[in-house]
Amino acid sequence: MHAVAEAEIILRSGDGVHVTDVQGRRYLDASGGLWYCSVGHGRTEIADATREQMTRIAAYSAFGPYATEPTIQLAERLARIAPMDDAVVFFTSGGSDAVDTAAKLARRYWDAQGRPERRVLVARTGGYHGMNAYGTSLAGIPANRDGYGGAIIDEVVVVPRDDTEALAALLSARGEEVAAFIGEPVVGAGGVYAPDAGYWQEVGRLCADADVLLIADEVISGFGRLGTMWGSERFGIRPDIVTFAKGVTSGYQPLGGILVGRKVQEVFWGGAPGGPLFRHGYTYSGHAAACAAAMANLDILERESLVDRVRELEPAFVARASMVARLGAVGAARAIGLMAAVELSPEVLAVAPDAGERAVVAAREHGLMTRTLGGRALQVSPAFVITESQIDAVFEAIEAAIGDVTG
Ligand SMILES: Cc1ncc(COP(=O)(O)O)c(C=O)c1O
Repeated sequence: MHAVAEAEIILRSGDGVHVTDVQGRRYLDASGGLWYCSVGHGRTEIADATREQMTRIAAYSAFGPYATEPTIQLAERLARIAPMDDAVVFFTSGGSDAVDTAAKLARRYWDAQGRPERRVLVARTGGYHGMNAYGTSLAGIPANRDGYGGAIIDEVVVVPRDDTEALAALLSARGEEVAAFIGEPVVGAGGVYAPDAGYWQEVGRLCADADVLLIADEVISGFGRLGTMWGSERFGIRPDIVTFAKGVTSGYQPLGGILVGRKVQEVFWGGAPGGPLFRHGYTYSGHAAACAAAMANLDILERESLVDRVRELEPAFVARASMVARLGAVGAARAIGLMAAVELSPEVLAVAPDAGERAVVAAREHGLMTRTLGGRALQVSPAFVITESQIDAVFEAIEAAIGDVTG
C-alpha cells in the first residue's frame, strides 16, 4: 500500500490487447487484467448487452422463487457446457465467493448425509483460492494465509502440490474426516505450474476411493485459457463441483459461481419438500446485468472460436516463453495454454529480492503491463485475441525489462 502511494497507474481506456492510461500512454496488457480479459478490452457488444439489460431491469434478487431472464439463460448455458453431466449452477459475485460457496456446500453435503465429522478441506501448496475466509485458509501461498492470529478456518490440510503419495497417506489416515479436495487444474497465482502427467487421474482415483468430493477451482482456467473450455477437460478431471469467475464475463462485470454435479445436487436440488437446505446466497447472486454481460461475452467466445484460437496459439506462445528461459537472469519460464510465468533466477533474487517488482516497473517503460507472481515471476496471461507478433512483443519487452534491472 505504501509502495503505490505516489505511483498509481490510472487507466482510462482499453482496446483489444492494449490499455491506455490517463497520460495517454498505451501498453500491451500482458496479464489480461487479472487473468480475466479473454475477449479483449473495449468490446462494445458486451457494453450494449449490459446497458440494454440495465434499462429493462438491472438486477433483482435470486432468492426464493425470484430470477431474471438473463440469469436463467446463463444458468442453462453454463449447465450445457459444464464439464460434468446434468450440472446445476449457483451464482456468486466473484471467485472468492465461489470458493466459499463450494467449500460450505461440500461440508453441508456431508452434514446433510449424517456425516458431520467430514469437515476437512484438502488444498495444495502454491494454491490460490481467493481472499475470503475460506480462500485465505485454503491458501497454499503462506504469505496469503499467515498474519491473522492462526488459522481462520481450522479444518484445512495443505498437501504438497503434485504429490499424490502425500494425498494418499492423508486420506488413508484421515479420509473419514475429509469433505473435499480442492485444486486448480494448473496452479495460477502460485506461479503457473501445470500438473505432472497422470496427476489428476490419480487424484480422482484417490478421492473416489475415499468418497471425498473433488472441487476443481477453474476461476482462471475456465472458459478457454488452457485451450479447452475447462481445465477439467484438458486433464480428464471429473469434478463434483467447479468454481468459476473471471472469464465468464471477461471482467466486463463482476460475476462468479459454482457448477454442481449430480451427486451433490441430488441432496439439495432433487430432494423432497422438507429435505435438507443449503441456506446460502449473495445479494448479487445471478445479477441480471452481469449475466447479460456474460451471455454477450460467451457469444463472442463462440462466434470467434477463441478457445480454438488459444489451442492454435499455444505452441508459439510456449516456444516464445521458453526462449526467455535462456537468459541468464531467468530461472524458469513455465507456459501452458495462454498462461505463463517468467521467473527470475534464485541467484538474481538472492542479491536483489525486489528485482521482480522492479522488472514490472521497467516493463511499463517498454510499453508492457504485467505484474509479479509472488515477487519472483512475471505473469503473462493475455487476451485470446492476441496475435503471434504481439506474443513476440510481450516476451521481447519482458527480456528488455529483466535486462534493465539485472544489468
Ligand atoms: C484459482 C482462483 N480462485 C479464486 C480466485 C478468487 O477470485 P476473485 O478475485 O474473483 O474473488 C482467484 C483469483 O485470482 C483464482 O485465481
